[in-house]
Amino acid sequence: MHVPFYSSVREYKTRSLEFDAAVRGVMERGDFILGSEVAEFEKEAAAWLGAKYAVGLASGSDALVLASDILGFKDGAEVLTPTFTFFASTSCVVRLGGKPVLVDMDEETLNMDLADAEQKLTKKTAGIIPVHLFQQCTPLQQVMKLTKAHGLKVLEDAAEAWGMKSKVDGVWRMAGTVGEIGIYSFFPTKTLGAYGDAGLAVTDDEELYKKLKSFRVHGSSVKYHHDYIGYNSRLDTMQAAILRVKLKTTNDSIATRARHADHYTQRLCGIPGLRIPPVSADNKPVYYVYNILLDGRDKLVEQFKDKGIGYSIYYPKPLHLQKCFSYLGWKEGDFPVAESVAKRIIALPIYPEITDDEVDYVCDEIAAFCQ
Ligand SMILES: Cc1ncc(COP(=O)(O)O)c(C=O)c1O
Repeated sequence: MHVPFYSSVREYKTRSLEFDAAVRGVMERGDFILGSEVAEFEKEAAAWLGAKYAVGLASGSDALVLASDILGFKDGAEVLTPTFTFFASTSCVVRLGGKPVLVDMDEETLNMDLADAEQKLTKKTAGIIPVHLFQQCTPLQQVMKLTKAHGLKVLEDAAEAWGMKSKVDGVWRMAGTVGEIGIYSFFPTKTLGAYGDAGLAVTDDEELYKKLKSFRVHGSSVKYHHDYIGYNSRLDTMQAAILRVKLKTTNDSIATRARHADHYTQRLCGIPGLRIPPVSADNKPVYYVYNILLDGRDKLVEQFKDKGIGYSIYYPKPLHLQKCFSYLGWKEGDFPVAESVAKRIIALPIYPEITDDEVDYVCDEIAAFCQ
């Protein structure tokens, strides 16, 4: 059996008429740049998330750069970001001349260790980028308490967190809608994935919204009149059209992912030496990724390769050990939890179209490996 780690083709085959019609519509109208589908998607996405404003951008990485620029995470300002995350969560600050202050991870939830973050606050700290990883949010209640107490800005990296919820002041809030700005990635593998690169930023603040809209078109709100030195980072109209098709069924996709995650958990829990990260009580998870942790992970990888099982390792090297950041002086041993998790973590295939037989096949191989 061959179980791909991810494939968009299964989804496309079952809904090709809808996708084809959406793309054809864009070509028939010819409104490729910031066309009508972009504005429609922004409205629908904002409503679904419970945010006031949404701005479609070219990618999640660009959304992080634009938001960092607008929030002042630049020019020597210190910004707390986790060492265990995708590169873009930190490079956005470095690119703008800001100083990333890396934070270790909480081994239970695999998110940022907020106690470590608090210890690293200085007078120069401008803000924090909590990254909601894999299936649950960084505890947003605690993030808001910390940032309010110290007057910090919050840029939520919700690139992986479409649909995840966290309880803040007794109310369930969507990941990305709590801080000043929240960003999402629609990279194809994501819970809401486009058929190419795409991203979004949301905010409840009208001024930030206007800046985001202006920054995506070279800092202009009137054509050829530039108020800021902005960027060229627009959500592609074809991707917006595809995302509108998928947004209609996003609740079903999330529910199906949850069913597959339950299946994995039932089959894998209790296997000696294998750890499944628990979901904390103040979270409603979305299984964008299903991770397990085990010693000897690299040997399991070899077995997966032999048996045709796709996998991914998020992330094999924490950011403090990346070559491009060596000038910042971090070294092995600085973030022990992240370093230990990076050696043991592996993500299993999970997407709505995976079959129960395929999940069973993956679990059989893991059970055999752990014997
Ligand atoms: C946590 C995190 N932040 C940012 C990004 C960047 O998003 P994109 O690939 O759309 O640029 C990703 C994408 O994988 C991500 O996982």
